[in-house]
Amino acid sequence: MKQLQGAPWLLAHRSMLKPNQPVKVSLFGHDYVLWRDLQGKINALPNACPHMGAMLSEGWCVAQADGSSTIACPLHALEFDRSGCTVLPSSNRQTKSLLEPLKLIIQGDFVWSYGGHEPKIPIPSIMSEIAADYEFIGVTGERSIPTDILSLLLNMHDYNHQNGTHRELFEIEQVQVKQFIDEGFHSHAYLSQPRKQPTFRDILRNPAQLAMPKVLETHLENFFPFMGLLHGEDKLLSPKECHFYLPEAEHQSRVFVLMYVKAHSAIAHLLKGNLLRLIDVVVDQDAKILSKIYTNTPQQIKLNNEVGMDWVRRNFESFPAVVEPSLSR
Ligand code: FES
Ligand SMILES: [Fe+2]
Repeated sequence: MKQLQGAPWLLAHRSMLKPNQPVKVSLFGHDYVLWRDLQGKINALPNACPHMGAMLSEGWCVAQADGSSTIACPLHALEFDRSGCTVLPSSNRQTKSLLEPLKLIIQGDFVWSYGGHEPKIPIPSIMSEIAADYEFIGVTGERSIPTDILSLLLNMHDYNHQNGTHRELFEIEQVQVKQFIDEGFHSHAYLSQPRKQPTFRDILRNPAQLAMPKVLETHLENFFPFMGLLHGEDKLLSPKECHFYLPEAEHQSRVFVLMYVKAHSAIAHLLKGNLLRLIDVVVDQDAKILSKIYTNTPQQIKLNNEVGMDWVRRNFESFPAVVEPSLSR
């Protein structure tokens, strides 16, 4: 299966790597151990110990005098430094590298990687711009979902699934794509989503309904295939919801959301926790439906507003080339 080699993938935000606590990440069917040492340096090695294959991510970090750290294997405690060398108990000399480090591109708090493949798409500057201007409030919605990357991307660019997958949360009556700007692997979608008017009973049950706008206006900015951004605008706060997608393996994909805000009022600060929880619920609903789809079903019905999915399919087929961008409207 085609797995989009040559795109950049955001493996983690620095806050997801606690000092000297190894984490496992997967890309294109390969597992890696990632750890941040006390110098702040982020390291990545293949996760299988070259002795007998134990998962290094299940081991522990050993701090060194200079602030770097080695990763110790959970099975026989061999320690590997960031370049994959170890010292065998029988000798006191370092071996040659037995694990080839995964190449990372660190930009501020962002840990990107091409998974060792030749870059075909540049890393966009947008995350550094957002980080410079907005307050980072946390990571949410992190899930590893047993689905292929194409199915995940289709779901994430499906503008009609609010009324199905997320019906209780948003109560959207209809979706209109007001504008779609197709720029190849980059695109913008402007959506207008009128919500069902709450009944008197709904309001009694959930007074927060009164505070929800009648029409949700949404601006989505898409970076094929690794990221989608929701630019929010509200009286209280302006959120930037940054969704990242990763092909962990052929039938396993990961998603997580980095949340940034600009608060326009003191109350906004009280909403941060709620916002993170709300997005976690949204991603959970997506993850559930993704495990309940027969993905090889031939599509015999087409709805309006499927332009986001058309864009995903076109790019997926043509990757890494872009056929003529023709979906603007
Ligand atoms: S399996 Fe890792 S040290 Fe033996
Ligand atoms: Fe969704």
